Amino acid sequence: MAAATELSLVSADSDEPVARRTTARIRRIALNTGGGDAPGLNAVIRAVVLTALNRGWECVGIRDGYNGLLMPEEYPQGGLITLTAETVQGITHLGGTILGTTNRGNPIRYPTQDEHGHMIEVDRSDELVAAIHREGIDALVAIGGDGSLAIAHALAEKGVRVVGVPKTIDNDLEETVVTFGFETAVAFATECVDRLHSTADAHRRVMVVEVMGRYAGWIALHCGVAGSADVILLPEIPYDMDRVVAKIRAREASGRRFSIVVVAEGARPRGGSLSIVEREIGRADRLGGVGEKVGHQIQELSGKETRTVVLGHLLRGGTPIPFDRLLSLRFGAAAVRALDEGYSDIMVALDPPVVRYVPLDRVAQRTKVVQLDCDTVRTARELGICLGD
Ligand code: F6P
Repeated sequence: MAAATELSLVSADSDEPVARRTTARIRRIALNTGGGDAPGLNAVIRAVVLTALNRGWECVGIRDGYNGLLMPEEYPQGGLITLTAETVQGITHLGGTILGTTNRGNPIRYPTQDEHGHMIEVDRSDELVAAIHREGIDALVAIGGDGSLAIAHALAEKGVRVVGVPKTIDNDLEETVVTFGFETAVAFATECVDRLHSTADAHRRVMVVEVMGRYAGWIALHCGVAGSADVILLPEIPYDMDRVVAKIRAREASGRRFSIVVVAEGARPRGGSLSIVEREIGRADRLGGVGEKVGHQIQELSGKETRTVVLGHLLRGGTPIPFDRLLSLRFGAAAVRALDEGYSDIMVALDPPVVRYVPLDRVAQRTKVVQLDCDTVRTARELGICLGD
């Protein structure tokens, strides 16, 4: 009974395409984790495995995204891991993923060397679908962010029965109120912002904190407001350095001799561009360096001594907070329920208090950015936080 009230299905009166359903029996499912890791991945894996085993299904994990199926020769112990109740024992609270992950393994844009030694992108999705069938895999639970869910949707289009689970610390996926991993990242970032207050105050410095967030500034906004930052720079609002410096000077004039500036890695100056440190075939551009740039400019323009801290991958590591553990366990169980109910080409999504199913094509290749009129942005402005505009 509880399950029925906890889980509502794709709205029957929506205009959206009806989710795919099938009655084919499931005997064996595969799970994979793709893209950057996020706290809660192992909790999802545990919930999927236990929920599937309860239904008498076998579970296997694909190593490193889809590489376990695309390059089995690279894995002396096999590209697939048999997942049992024992394999997933005691992993709910662990960061990382027991399956491994990669952000260089997109089967549709697989990085491959051509005959001249140049790296090119090759579509290996048909090969992957063949491998899925060859391994007797009846359905797939794909745990990942925008890229991984776009791949999941493409596989569904090719006839694979697949359910997606939304993962990313960046919280930039549409159709779910929150992704798992985000709140853990925000909790840690907020603690760091808190800690920086006392040292900034002691030295009367400006402390710049760079956090992850490629195209969406959710982490920066939430940890910045919760941690009482003075300036928050988001990818959604190209910043004007004069505004930032004016805020720091105003604080100085009112006797507040230190300032805290939170910068999302995807923030950019008005009329300027993203800080990209590396480009590589078959993967997203690697961002970095905006915190240093902002720090230097602040020091130069305001005369205030400035230090920069980059939180980077610290935000992805470590143990998920209880909110993310519970969300991950709910997502994992709901993914298996969805498969059992015959759904495919959907993602499980949080729409409090329920977990819903949404068609994957409403999520794939879209980005949930911070809306500039949302309550948290308005709150930040009302608290006097400078957003760089
Ligand atoms: O998971 C998304 C993300 O956290 C982005 O914010 C960041 O740009 C990216 O991962 C970095 O990933 P990696 O260093 O693993 O390539």
